[in-house]
Amino acid sequence: MEKFYVTTPIYYVNDRPHIGHAYTTVAADVFARYWRVKLGDDQVFFLTGTDEHGAKVAQAAETAGEDPQVFVDKIAQEYMRAWEKLNISHNYFIRTTDPRHTAVVQEVLQKLYDQGLIEKRQYKGMYCVGCEKYLTSTEIKDGKCELHPNAELVAQEEENYFLKLSELAPQVLQALENNDYRVLPKERREEILSRIKAGVEDISISRTGVSWGVKVPWDETHTVYVWVDALLNYFSATQIVKNKQEFWAPDLQLLAKDILWFHGLVWEAILIALKMKLPKDLFVHGFFSIDGQKMSKSLGNILEPMELAERYGVDGLRYLLLTAFAFGNDGDISVEKFDVKYNADLANGLGNLVSRVAKLAEDVDLSGVAKADDSLDARIEEALKNYRPDEALGVIWGEIGALDKRLDDDEPWKLVGEERTKKVLSYIPRLRWVAGAIRPFMPETAAKIEKVFAGDTVARPEALFQRL
Ligand code: MSP
Repeated sequence: MEKFYVTTPIYYVNDRPHIGHAYTTVAADVFARYWRVKLGDDQVFFLTGTDEHGAKVAQAAETAGEDPQVFVDKIAQEYMRAWEKLNISHNYFIRTTDPRHTAVVQEVLQKLYDQGLIEKRQYKGMYCVGCEKYLTSTEIKDGKCELHPNAELVAQEEENYFLKLSELAPQVLQALENNDYRVLPKERREEILSRIKAGVEDISISRTGVSWGVKVPWDETHTVYVWVDALLNYFSATQIVKNKQEFWAPDLQLLAKDILWFHGLVWEAILIALKMKLPKDLFVHGFFSIDGQKMSKSLGNILEPMELAERYGVDGLRYLLLTAFAFGNDGDISVEKFDVKYNADLANGLGNLVSRVAKLAEDVDLSGVAKADDSLDARIEEALKNYRPDEALGVIWGEIGALDKRLDDDEPWKLVGEERTKKVLSYIPRLRWVAGAIRPFMPETAAKIEKVFAGDTVARPEALFQRL
């Protein structure tokens, strides 16, 4: 691997960022930071951004009584602020209302139209604004959308442009079966494979009733379907940002299972039609619930990343999110569980270890300390190549636990003179290793620990994690 291009979904700006958006974005940040160290800063392109068109966003702006552009500018700012706070190191933040993006969307659509892959048809269907799509009969239960049971479905009949997805689907299937692009973990690959095999219908890719969107280039009475507009961000960014063309195609696209269909099929179909290189890996992670319930506005259980970052510190939150459950699975989170884990792994675990060793080494000359043994690095790399940041952190915390135990067994505070110095010096390379290993996950904490043990004498440690 020579370059690494990683993307997150671009998030809808109908509402403020919540902890689900932070989850994917923090994970992407870990991969980007890891590969920057390995490949060099210039070899990594990390893209995130906001999805700003469509009915959902237009409705939110209307409810807020604001002009849509003013509204999306405001929420996009909130996303940028949230990512800055969480130390997200994206190279570019794309917004779909950027005219340079919309120009790419129009160009691509025109190409598909010229190839005869887009056709005008009369369409009648049930549209779910929550999903931003027409539902198929299997997705409707008792007249409601399965995913948005509180929302009324909108019966719509309009002239739409259709993308001949059914014609492209066999090529997508073949590409997936040949591993021209991979969908991971394997259960998600199975899921998309069987959905494609079950039959694919053409999809409507334009709307007449939604004016908040990109105009269809050959027929300005239509706007481009928000999903087609949004998916193209991954490509348009490489055109917009200087010197990023050669980063095409993405090496890793992170998303959750809710949007697998669009990424695993629609997106690939468009790229195949354009004869473009396909992304290498789509990694589909799970969804978390809060205290056993779906996170939702109506339940009032939405966790705000900013509030959690206040409680646990930015690195504390990053750690808690990444280790809550295996990356790829569904899981449940709660403030209570976070509190317990924070105290155990961060305040008592890492924080306590650093202060214990720093205290022991207060008067010790560190100039002769050997370089850290890095036998665990391969395991971390392996875990990250398998897209398991949780496992990588498990390796590091295994080492932290082992070090703690060694201190308890050694009881170096009972030793004196040469013997004590020797013992204490033996811990320093391990602490330096821990600092380096946590860097992609917890960059600020890594820097703080490095500062303590980097010189010839120990620097007084800043408090890392206050006990709750
Ligand atoms: N705008 C589309 C994506 C377009 S990408 C070309 C969209 N936006 S979204 O704001 O709804 O974000 C969905 C994504 O947010 C999920 O795929 C996932 O990455 C993240 N998550 C949102 N809620 C989540 C959980 N409860 N749990 C885990 N991830 C969650 O869909």
